[in-house]
Amino acid sequence: MPKFTHVADRFAIWGLNVPYARDEAFKAAFRASAVPLIPLIQHKTPEVLRIEWKAYVCCWAARQALLIEGDFVECGVNYGLLSRTTAAYIDLASHPDRTLWLYDTFQGIPTEQMSAREAKGLGTWHNRNNYTEDVLPIARHRFAPFPNARLVPGMVPDTLHEAAPARVAWLHIDMNITLPEIAAAEFFWDRLSPGGVIILDDYAYAGHEEQMLAFQDFAAARGALVLPLPTGQGLIVKA
Ligand SMILES: C[S@@+](CC[C@H](N)C(=O)[O-])C[C@H]1O[C@@H](n2cnc3c(N)ncnc32)[C@H](O)[C@@H]1O
Repeated sequence: MPKFTHVADRFAIWGLNVPYARDEAFKAAFRASAVPLIPLIQHKTPEVLRIEWKAYVCCWAARQALLIEGDFVECGVNYGLLSRTTAAYIDLASHPDRTLWLYDTFQGIPTEQMSAREAKGLGTWHNRNNYTEDVLPIARHRFAPFPNARLVPGMVPDTLHEAAPARVAWLHIDMNITLPEIAAAEFFWDRLSPGGVIILDDYAYAGHEEQMLAFQDFAAARGALVLPLPTGQGLIVKA
């Protein structure tokens, strides 16, 4: 039996180093985001709190994003496990010229946006099991240390047309279903700076094939290719 060096994020590795293991700033940022969520999530989906590698991908992309022009955007925030980790990692408050835009209904997935398959499967399952209350007050509290984090409650893509940055450097898309995710990517593509990264949270997750196929088409139409990561995330880099 190999000695695993990482068992989380839905995968195990051996014979490889864990690249962030010595990154104390990352570990502190992840802990500060995840630990307060234990009483809220542990009894429902505890594996959600073991996504360090996913979080590190978001943090890496955010550090890269600081080298180019644009704001930070997350579509699909919930309690902000990943974006709060990222904000702490890059010390967002020390970059007052950058805003972190946080779009979510904060009340779950709009049923009218689900495809028939999503309504029968993961979309409805998520609403019943994970999104059972209005989490906006908790999210606001969690982002209070970052004055340049801006929460935008409401349904994507409608809210994007009400308030959105002109330039984007980091775009994290994590809404569990296809329609608003593709709409967000289409909305922001022209605003994404060259070198900007889109991170697709659910890209290779089993049960999320509609999203994967739609994003393969989205990328191909723009001369790009999605990089699938073992975390299940997909990465699109704008040339
Ligand atoms: C998987 S959670 C996001 C998790 C988050 N990125 C994290 O790090 O923990 C998905 C979120 O997407 C939101 N959502 C789904 N469809 C949406 C839409 N059309 N507009 C706004 N929010 C949406 C849900 O309310 C839910 O909070």
